[in-house]
Amino acid sequence: MKPLRFACIVGARPNFMKMAPLLRALDSYENVEAVLVHTGQHYDKNLSDVFFEQLEMRRPDVTLEVGSGSHAVQTARVLERFEAVLVEAAEAGRPFDRLVVVGDVNSTMATTLAAAKLHVPVAHVEAGLRSFDRTMPEEINRIVTDAIADLLLVSEPDGMENLRREGHPEEHLRLVGNVMIDTLRFMLPKARQCDTLAQVGVEPGQYGVVTLHRPANVDSPDTLGPLLDVLADVSERLPIVFPIHPRTQERIKRFGLAKKLGAARNVILTDPLGYLEFLALTSQAKVIVTDSGGLQEESTVLGIPCLTARPNTERPITVEQGTSTLVSNDASMLRSLLDDVLGGRYKQGTCPELWDGRAAERIAQALVEGS
Ligand code: UD1
Repeated sequence: MKPLRFACIVGARPNFMKMAPLLRALDSYENVEAVLVHTGQHYDKNLSDVFFEQLEMRRPDVTLEVGSGSHAVQTARVLERFEAVLVEAAEAGRPFDRLVVVGDVNSTMATTLAAAKLHVPVAHVEAGLRSFDRTMPEEINRIVTDAIADLLLVSEPDGMENLRREGHPEEHLRLVGNVMIDTLRFMLPKARQCDTLAQVGVEPGQYGVVTLHRPANVDSPDTLGPLLDVLADVSERLPIVFPIHPRTQERIKRFGLAKKLGAARNVILTDPLGYLEFLALTSQAKVIVTDSGGLQEESTVLGIPCLTARPNTERPITVEQGTSTLVSNDASMLRSLLDDVLGGRYKQGTCPELWDGRAAERIAQALVEGS
């Protein structure tokens, strides 16, 4: 029997931890050929290469090297270059039976569009999440991807409801759980062996971790400045480890905020960290402050308080059931919730169903059966 040929897409940092377990699961099927395509949306060593090494992921079979650019430029480059890959495969007599995309980055949406136009069916892992905030580029990517994918693999029950409301037929939907949590569970023992805490100079349970990279938080000094002030203040009581995304690094410099942050003795700034080093830090933190989608989920599973610097979330289960609270970019709310955490008054959460480390197996089975 001819093997099923899947094109599996990664582009930016949060894609790698979702695709790694999925590739492992697909590679265990004899009749599946999973071709890994890296669009090159993220290209720095510490936003890309290090994840391949640490997640024990094989190297991409195809690279598109699209690099950075405006949304339109980045999307257009992926469209053009990925269409060529699809056409070439078809002309060589080895067409793809299916595209497999994860998450909500520009590469997810652009490759989906290219495939759908060439009648290659698309499976979307992490489908159905909605923030209902169309000012977020990721929300546009989610809506477009789900609208044209025909196999929608969903991580939490709200996602199923959103897709039903949008009129997707039931046979397109599968509640499979959270594949990023597969990676967390797989990697946690290894992460715990890293000496990251000692290297950074913090003690288990006695520091906070901060990540901020969304345009809504970092692109204006009026928003970023007050957030950084709170972090500098709280660092007098709790050291803060802050791995900085390149966008945020650039903005801090441009807005003249570097001096203020540098003056706070207990704010420890680092470059973006590898997966293992970062998990070593988050899993032993007292509190996490973030605007990342994935980190809301990871902190819920780790049982660590997560103050989410966003006005909304496409992952409501992390607030309703997990350890996350939305603080928007409200500096005084952030300050007061940090006080609650330090005073032992913060809520405890529970782990959502199917975030059990076996989502990739369920997804692989759905892909094989549905292709
Ligand atoms: C992208 C995703 C976002 C995800 C984030 C994780 C979209 C719309 N956004 O945002 O959902 O949470 O990745 O990090 O797809 N840069 C580098 N090195 C790199 C890549 C980028 O320095 O390897 C810098 C460039 O200056 C670039 C900027 O970061 O302009 C933003 O990169 P981009 O890929 O456009 O979006 P992210 O903010 O990383």
